[in-house]
Amino acid sequence: MTTIGLVVFGLVSLLALMSLLPPLAARLRLPYSVLLAVVGFSLGAIVSLRPDLAIPSPLLHDVIDALASIEISSEAFILIFLPSLLFEVAIAIDVRRLIDDIAPVLTLAVVAVVICALTVGIALGLASPYGLVACLLLGSIVATTDPAAVVGIFREVGVPKRLTTLVEGESLLNDAAAIAIFALLLEMLLSGGEGSIGGTIAKFLVSFGGGALAGFLMGRAACALFPFLGGWPQAEITLTIALAYLSFVVPEHYFHVSGVVACVTAGLVLGSTGKTRMRAHTFEQMEGVWGQLAFWANSLIFLLAAMFVPRIMEGTSLKEIGFILLVYLATLIARFVTVFVLLPLLTRAGLMQRINNRIKTVIVWGGLRGAVSLALALAVIENGAVPSSTRDFIATSVTGFVLMTLFINGMTLRPLVGFFRLNRLNPVARGVRDRAKLMTLTDVAGELSNIAQNEGIDREVADAALSSLEARLAVARARSHRGVELMAEEMVKVGLTVAAAYEVERCFSLLGGRIVDRRIAEMLLREAQHVREAVRAAGRKGYVAAAERGLGFGPALRFALWLQRNLRVERPLADALADRFEFLMMQRQVLSGLVPFARDRLQPLIGEESAGEIIRLTARRIEAVEGSLLALKLQYPAYAAALQRQYLGRIARQRESAAYQALAANLVVSGEVERELKAELEKHWTGLDERCKLDPELSAIDLVARVPIFRDLDIKRQQAIAHLLTPLLVLPDSPIVRRGDKGDAMYFIASGAVRVAVEPNGGSGVELGSGDFFGELALLTGHPRNADVRALGYCKLLALKARDFDRLLSHDAGLKARIEQVARERLNLG
Ligand code: CMP
Repeated sequence: MTTIGLVVFGLVSLLALMSLLPPLAARLRLPYSVLLAVVGFSLGAIVSLRPDLAIPSPLLHDVIDALASIEISSEAFILIFLPSLLFEVAIAIDVRRLIDDIAPVLTLAVVAVVICALTVGIALGLASPYGLVACLLLGSIVATTDPAAVVGIFREVGVPKRLTTLVEGESLLNDAAAIAIFALLLEMLLSGGEGSIGGTIAKFLVSFGGGALAGFLMGRAACALFPFLGGWPQAEITLTIALAYLSFVVPEHYFHVSGVVACVTAGLVLGSTGKTRMRAHTFEQMEGVWGQLAFWANSLIFLLAAMFVPRIMEGTSLKEIGFILLVYLATLIARFVTVFVLLPLLTRAGLMQRINNRIKTVIVWGGLRGAVSLALALAVIENGAVPSSTRDFIATSVTGFVLMTLFINGMTLRPLVGFFRLNRLNPVARGVRDRAKLMTLTDVAGELSNIAQNEGIDREVADAALSSLEARLAVARARSHRGVELMAEEMVKVGLTVAAAYEVERCFSLLGGRIVDRRIAEMLLREAQHVREAVRAAGRKGYVAAAERGLGFGPALRFALWLQRNLRVERPLADALADRFEFLMMQRQVLSGLVPFARDRLQPLIGEESAGEIIRLTARRIEAVEGSLLALKLQYPAYAAALQRQYLGRIARQRESAAYQALAANLVVSGEVERELKAELEKHWTGLDERCKLDPELSAIDLVARVPIFRDLDIKRQQAIAHLLTPLLVLPDSPIVRRGDKGDAMYFIASGAVRVAVEPNGGSGVELGSGDFFGELALLTGHPRNADVRALGYCKLLALKARDFDRLLSHDAGLKARIEQVARERLNLG
């Protein structure tokens, strides 16, 4: 066989072996990585003993030869395997949660790596003759924790999701930080230990920050490309693979910033933004592909590294075993300090939730090291530029240490969790479990008796089957009543969490059906995710507060208003209003689906009372959304109608398309006919996805013509007046004039309504509407404003500045008289 032939043969033999390992690990109840290490170690031993072994089968002989021929260079290890490993974790992470907790995650990631590298580096530096830089390098290699074991257990145990994200995010970013530090230290080691501490820190920050920026930009660029690849899942998934590897290579090679950080950041961007840019099933498919790639990378790194172990460990001296033990001890102490000192400090600073000591202990003990540490160690072993004694030292210490964490911590983690009783469901989860069981068994019993009846199954047989079900049902019924009512508040929280998750789902399904375009879908998703987080953090209270906040006016709209008012730039305002309009309309659509969901799906699980509460809360939310929508509609009825038309069109398109798809799926029509029908459908609805343009209707001359006191003036005069007036839009419930302020302008209401709070404290005040004006008193009398004026809904106003007031009135005696008369009446009233 040729060399390449042998390598391929060796690799596929490994793949064949790998395919058997996950089920075997499950059967042996061993962590997968532990089994990999054992198998790899055994293979390594066989390969190195090969000449002395009598291998009966020539095929087996060749396989072992082939395995021996696999030599992967240090660069290949890093370049081939690391991007897959890191990118896969990054796309799966919940970025919103990560961003919410970015302070503790980053602190933990970076500070924990530094603590670990320093503890290990200094301890070994004192005990060994290899110099501080080499020891620190070793410290950075063993600082990368592998979260798989802890996260796996957390998922089973059901600790708060936030904690899982914290551990996962920490480990992802600490890989990035450790590798960035590793690269710097390696460079330092190779250059003979030059460079100041300050310089190294600055380099690290530039490398880390630059990498993050590069990864962000590349991730965004890839997401922007997806729409152009629409409908070709293979092309889209290929682009994600290119993104992972390009973001790893390009920033490092061309811009000299951290490729690892860039790769992780690009993965985070893709995981969060890509979901709305790709079709739903393409995203799932992509996750599958990445899961597969990461599985290969992880398994191969472990197997290949473990195969090295017999060679590395051959002739390990007592002293070297001492070093391994020292590394183990030092990392344990470093992790203990991080978790028991640093985390409480973060909690005290209000940056993260409190974690109980049992979970903290699990996090400390669960600091297994895995594929990344091994890959980095291999990178050093293979690096000819590093002195050979240092190479051996690093190789033995890291490998021995990784094996220790796997065998000692990995094998005892689960018993530890059991010992702390962390694997028990909490009472609320138990309540939900019991009710889920009750609901399901009831359905199954009903269905079973129907089937038995319809299909003529013997009575005795059916009765026997039913009675065994009945027995389980009786137990479930008894359990499901126990204590659940006591936890109504908790049940409402559970229900709200599920409802919020359903809300997110509905946003995706609206996007999938092209009922809503991507921009609005992203707004809806952001809102739904906020609500979900708020429920997690603060239950019902959090839900109500988040829902209210969601209806507030965001900074984008406020900035757009400012631009219109001060620079007369109208476009951003038109866009922001259009977005809000569509967002509200679609949000009502999303929420309206929650009521039947709570009634039909949640009620059996959380009880009538709690489901009723959720329906009430949802109804209140719908009411608030409708109120906001109505306010906009009053001001822009034509736009509302255009949006509704578009909405109905999109629904029609989606239903029609789904119907064709169903016909094809049921084999009633062929794929060809389906494509033809769909093409015709698309043609019919061309233009449906174009954005409806909103006219903010803020032209001064148009508004002047609508104000009664200007209406009868001739057009020339109207134009002159329009010149002096600034049109502006005011948001509902925002203040326009404040009592006690100096008067700088008066206002004519072109449309909308305001409330004048005449009495300082209380009183319902006076309402003014289209055609009325206010703010004239301060200009006429020179006194401060004598009342507060607030917008009731959206108002279009024409502002007349104080300096233009006299100019306008001096030209028009009738206008002057009218304003003065109204002012006199108001003063008399006051
Ligand atoms: P100014 O004092 O500049 O600011 C507050 C404004 O509220 C005031 O001008 C009037 O335009 C308006 N205002 C005050 N009192 C009344 C009232 N009784 N009825 C209607 N508008 C009023």
